[in-house]
Amino acid sequence: MEIEFVAADAPLAPKTAVARVVFEGQAQEGALARAVSASRFTGAKGQTLDVLAPDGGAERLVLVGAGKAEAFDALAAEHAAAAAYAAVKTSGLTTLRVELPNADADLAARAALGVRLASYRFDKYRTKETADKKPSVTKAQIVGQTDAALTAFAPLAALADAVAFTRDLVSEPANVLYPAEFARRVKELERLGLEVEILGEPEMMKLGMGSLLGVGQGSIRESQLVVIRWNGADDKNAQPVAFIGKGVCFDTGGISIKPADGMEDMKWDMGGAGAVAGLMHVLAGRKAKVNAVGILGLVENMPDGNAYRPGDVLTSMSGQTIEVINTDAEGRLVLADAVWYCQDRFKPKFMVDLATLTGAIIISLGNEYAGLFSNNDELAANLLAASETEGEPLWRMPLPAQYDKNIDSVIADMKNTGGRPGGSITAALFIKRFVNDVPWAHLDIASTAWKKPSTVPTIPEGATGYGVRLLNRMVQEKYEG
Ligand code: BES
Ligand code: MN
Ligand code: ZN
Repeated sequence: MEIEFVAADAPLAPKTAVARVVFEGQAQEGALARAVSASRFTGAKGQTLDVLAPDGGAERLVLVGAGKAEAFDALAAEHAAAAAYAAVKTSGLTTLRVELPNADADLAARAALGVRLASYRFDKYRTKETADKKPSVTKAQIVGQTDAALTAFAPLAALADAVAFTRDLVSEPANVLYPAEFARRVKELERLGLEVEILGEPEMMKLGMGSLLGVGQGSIRESQLVVIRWNGADDKNAQPVAFIGKGVCFDTGGISIKPADGMEDMKWDMGGAGAVAGLMHVLAGRKAKVNAVGILGLVENMPDGNAYRPGDVLTSMSGQTIEVINTDAEGRLVLADAVWYCQDRFKPKFMVDLATLTGAIIISLGNEYAGLFSNNDELAANLLAASETEGEPLWRMPLPAQYDKNIDSVIADMKNTGGRPGGSITAALFIKRFVNDVPWAHLDIASTAWKKPSTVPTIPEGATGYGVRLLNRMVQEKYEG
């Protein structure tokens, strides 16, 4: 999608649809007033009214409801522009011009971001889609103060690129995106100035990562640990911020195999690693003034003659031993070594891990909110504030010490499941045992890494890229400079 910012009186190119964003109850004039009175359009949020061949140059004019004027903020501008795109994307017209009810440059830039996010598509495997089914709109013109809006849009263009990178990774099927291929795609980000190190099984063996390696041992695909670094701070030795992602490229459940129904969804089980890769992409893309580390634990969880079994005892890099009760509780085993390695090697200011960790978080919070677990109130508050600004909903969950005994084992230091009650909480408490008192937060994104169906205009059905926006915002507002 090509983005331009144009003056209100810029001439209309042929094949342009004009989308006029209007507030609830805002009066229209002439033919438009008649069109409105012949419809149920009130300007409420989410409504659109398509007017063909209206008076004045445009071939189509779409009124887009933005709700109450007082509540019109940057997210509303994104959503309105995304709704405008949805209304005309397959109209046959090629340009969308968005007129906002307010000429603010930041709002114009956010509207452009809205169109970029809404127009994301993963269509590389559709070989038979006919031209009339494909989106026809390839350019968006946002009306606004052109220079100021373009400046405001630069970091948002980097963000849109990064979210698309994450969505692409998460959308790829597991026969294409296995750990080594994931690592290879991240290695390509060195073109943005990132440093990428890839550790294979021999290197991880040397480090003693028996927990992560245990999960991957039933797969013919080699497990990988990817370390991504961005050193954008003026002081190259300043303590980094760190992010860790669960990257289970496919989760069959292993020997504790999952039911067939819906198992295809488990190609998304690398959504945490996808988000961390996307975050590093945007930090580099907008040259963030921060030192950051991203760590991806990449494995495939398969049943096989060499697979790990229920009852096995694994020794993690921390030295702590883990009795495997259920091989389907594999994400925490991957994170145990990745999180320990992160604090041990990088001594970060804080660590945030992202993981599609538990089905229980979907039962707790539904499909709009991710769960937040943290040992640090300031970090938690910063994450919640960023989630609000970016429209990536997050809800804090408790880490009660009383539940920690649920993961004690009779024969090892701990076991990898704590029973069904509070399943997301005991999973988080498991990871906490590998954090070593560093400020830490865990985002359980099993509920938000993908959407079926779409419920937000900037997030098409499929991979969402959840986490990239909120972490990028938090870094920008609290940890840069
Ligand atoms: N990847 C799954 C969690 C998941 C479930 C993500 C549904 C997205 C949608 C995870 O590895 C898993 O299998 N967790 C088990 C843990 C249980 C065995 C303690 C679960 O949630 O059932
Ligand atoms: Mn699992
Ligand atoms: Zn999993």
